[in-house]
Amino acid sequence: MKCILIIGQSKLIFVQNFILSKTYSSVNSLYKKDHGKVAFAAPSNIALVKYWGKRPIQIPENASLSFTLSECRTETSIVYKKREVNGSDFLITFLFEGASKPSFEPKIHTFFDRIAPYCHFLHDFEFVIDSKNTFPHSSGIASSASGMSALAMCLVQIEHELGAGLSAEERKEKASFLARLGSGSACRSIEGPVTIWGEHHKIEGSSNEFAVPFKQKVHPIFENYQDTVLLIDKGEKQVSSTVGHNLMHGHRYAKARFEQANSNLEKLSEVIRNGALDQFIEIVESEALTLHAMMMTSLPYFILMKPNTLEVINSIWKYRKQTGVPVCFTLDAGANVHVLYPEANKKQVLNFIKTELAEKCQNQQYICDYLGIGVKKM
Ligand code: PMV
Repeated sequence: MKCILIIGQSKLIFVQNFILSKTYSSVNSLYKKDHGKVAFAAPSNIALVKYWGKRPIQIPENASLSFTLSECRTETSIVYKKREVNGSDFLITFLFEGASKPSFEPKIHTFFDRIAPYCHFLHDFEFVIDSKNTFPHSSGIASSASGMSALAMCLVQIEHELGAGLSAEERKEKASFLARLGSGSACRSIEGPVTIWGEHHKIEGSSNEFAVPFKQKVHPIFENYQDTVLLIDKGEKQVSSTVGHNLMHGHRYAKARFEQANSNLEKLSEVIRNGALDQFIEIVESEALTLHAMMMTSLPYFILMKPNTLEVINSIWKYRKQTGVPVCFTLDAGANVHVLYPEANKKQVLNFIKTELAEKCQNQQYICDYLGIGVKKM
């Protein structure tokens, strides 16, 4: 249920019980500022329990759990200025790495359209958005999670500077809510090191509307947990995740999959507390393969893994069996492999990656990342 209350000059918008916005009318004097600049860096995240299947608008069919990363980031700044004449359109200039990028603007306009009911100031200001990624172009690493969360955090900060009066915690919650409307999994990048998105009866405070940080104590084994991303295929995906999510409607195994994900999330939450790496490995690898099994069993069916994805998986299994090193893999919606392992095993595993796995990567490329705490003000 959505209800809008208009109280004097200010508008308070509630969606369900969640206070999304407290913005001010377009009367000049009610904004505390008429120009300014904000900047945030937001990381990517890797899901361990996968979100695959959604209802409008960006409501997940099951709860998901992810590790927030550190090194794969989008850094975004926004210069905002009060418009001479406000309008129903948006005035946005989008720069990528300092250069004009008109091809990105339609996506930003669609995002602004979607979030405008929760950010009334968007029509009253003009914006110059400047964004850059710390990871290489077309590396096959999706920039939507880091990009949308950095953008959302900047907009919430602007709203704060204009006088919206949300607490720091509410601002993060709102940024997660807005980021979700841009790209589902982006809502999990605002906080870290572990976040959960989607209502789950065992996770207090969990929500379909925004992600929440994992509230219990994370076992020390996961401190600085490593994620080395092997760039197996840097090409454009043949099937977008939007199309993939939609193929879960009427999917023969959908119901069982959503139940499995929720049950895996419960088990993995326990493992994150107790540090049982054998169980961690089993849940995480099973989740990755189930995600791809859903793709292979949808209609139309498709495969995003490449031959080298399988080669790498087999090498990891062999190495783990021979050495006992608790290294495992996960996959997102693509061919790249995320190699996960404790910081204590970093030297050994990096040596294994260099000598045995790098040759399976395009141009021998891989990115070393590790757990992080979410968005940072710049
Ligand atoms: O946020 P989207 O719509 O790009 O979907 C992300 C889906 C996966 O990366 C495959 C899984 C996940 O939970 O991040």
